[in-house]
Amino acid sequence: MLRTHTCGELRITDVGKKVTLCGWLQKSRDIGSIGFIDLRDRYGITQLAFDETKNPETFEKARIYGRECVLRATGVVDERSSKNPKMDTGDIEIRVEELEILNESKTPPFTIEENTDGGDELRMKYRYLDLRRESVRKKIELRHQVTKHTRTYLDAQSFIEIETPVLIKSTPEGARDFVVPSRLNEGEWYALPQSPQTFKQLLMVSGMDKYYQIVKCFRDEDLRADRQPEFTQIDCEMSFVEQDDILNMFEGLTKFVFKNIHGIELSDFPRMSYQEAMNTYGSDKPDTRFEMKFVYLDEVARGKGFGLFDSSESIIAINVKGGAEFTRKQLDELTDFVKQPQIGAGGLIYCRYNSDGTLKSSVDKFFSEENLRQWAQTCNSAPGDLILVLCGKKSSTQKQMNELRLKLGRQPGLIRSGEYKALWVVDFPLLEFDDESGRWHAMHHPFTSPKPEDISELRSSPGKVRANAYDLVINGVEVGGGSIRIHDKKVQKEMFSLLGFTDEQAQAQFGFLMDAFEYGAPPHGGIAFGLDRLCSLLGETDSIRDFIAFPKNNAGRDVMIDAPSPLSKEQLEELGLK
Ligand code: AMO
Repeated sequence: MLRTHTCGELRITDVGKKVTLCGWLQKSRDIGSIGFIDLRDRYGITQLAFDETKNPETFEKARIYGRECVLRATGVVDERSSKNPKMDTGDIEIRVEELEILNESKTPPFTIEENTDGGDELRMKYRYLDLRRESVRKKIELRHQVTKHTRTYLDAQSFIEIETPVLIKSTPEGARDFVVPSRLNEGEWYALPQSPQTFKQLLMVSGMDKYYQIVKCFRDEDLRADRQPEFTQIDCEMSFVEQDDILNMFEGLTKFVFKNIHGIELSDFPRMSYQEAMNTYGSDKPDTRFEMKFVYLDEVARGKGFGLFDSSESIIAINVKGGAEFTRKQLDELTDFVKQPQIGAGGLIYCRYNSDGTLKSSVDKFFSEENLRQWAQTCNSAPGDLILVLCGKKSSTQKQMNELRLKLGRQPGLIRSGEYKALWVVDFPLLEFDDESGRWHAMHHPFTSPKPEDISELRSSPGKVRANAYDLVINGVEVGGGSIRIHDKKVQKEMFSLLGFTDEQAQAQFGFLMDAFEYGAPPHGGIAFGLDRLCSLLGETDSIRDFIAFPKNNAGRDVMIDAPSPLSKEQLEELGLK
């Protein structure tokens, strides 16, 4: 090795040792006849000291090297006269005797410091430099820890990691495929996997029994803070299991990871049906760190002459603790928020439960104080609270109220930092109707098994059939999802037919899976965690990008390598694309 120690390692107990360190020049300064350099590597920063009187040659060298040069310094560890308690190595410095430059550096386009002057785009373009910053590097290290503990847990549970192919045929997970032209089979295309779903099921037919893979998945969909076109799943599958076995196994994995990363003991994850989640939070991924559960005012607010309520399918309220203090301006802002086109509410009705016990609403004309008291009772409100009400079609009002609840949840003080609330959302509907295509779609994917007790309704009322499907939700983030699968060819065929596939289409696209089901397919099920999302939760940052070494920007571009990019004429010709 070119070094004897790292820049994060030396302590007061090392004083007197002769050491060699390598790293990047973070900053340098002179104080009289002593020069200092902060030398940085992955492990930390160590101060190098150069004494002009004792070693004029190295002192001179140290003065000419600029930021981010790669240096190798040899010297003796010495106790610092003025210690820096904020640094792990703050008690010592190296009295440098020899200094060697291993490589020069241009002045970096932004400062490699915590409070960098670089904007987002610039840091993405020079991501390899941004990764030198401690906070950025720490996120990548956290990701390594998460995968390490995941492997430890799954290995102890007898899972084996198996790689599946990347050049495959389309797997429907609800997004568009990225496709790759085949040179050897002109006019034909591979698809990149949206997930290894069909392969992991085939591995169960092979008898592999407990499979996992930490695997890249590719989805051509619109990007958001929690979505990347290529992302990583912790993909798992087990044979001879029922839903409870999967939930227990992967609740165990989640607890193990949280315990090892943060020392947090998560309490048992409650299970909530999809229906309850929608009715109580208006979302299938509720953030249960705070209350403000939905209250239905249909009984107490209808029939009082207020046309809007009387003609609405649902009147939904939430109680904001201490909200009676909200100013008119704050209420106007909330009203504007729900009226934005992307939320789509017609308006917001409110009722203040003042600290003196009086009630005052924005619809006083229609509701007496006695009526309002009934609202307050139904909402379990206390003096000082605020009741916010939306009304309209049930499903859209639930969605609008979910947005409002989440906005209010971001108020300072409501959510404690470092708090985690996990739950399983279960009993998802098997199918959802898509108005645009006029067809039923699989809510999870077409390999998900209906609940046996609901199978008889598959043809008569498909919308009522529940699936053996589940999502793991933590702090309002869908961290993972899975299901018990269909393992019977007849049921799988029926499912494809419900989804509008002809027998020929189903055979052409998924014949390999249905054929495999004829050779002794065991009952099986599984789950996939979004690794990037799990890391961003553990790292308490909204954007999953920070936890990906080389992410894409919001337009799906890698601005560092400039991809995607056009192909040469020759390449296109070779692929039969010109
Ligand atoms: P699903 O589509 O729910 O299930 O994906 C599993 C988990 O992957 C994460 N995820 C994403 N993360 C970042 N960017 C994306 N574009 C993205 N899309 C999904 C989410 C999600 O919960 N084959 C099934 C799993 C199974 O049934 O076993 C599947 O892929 O955290």
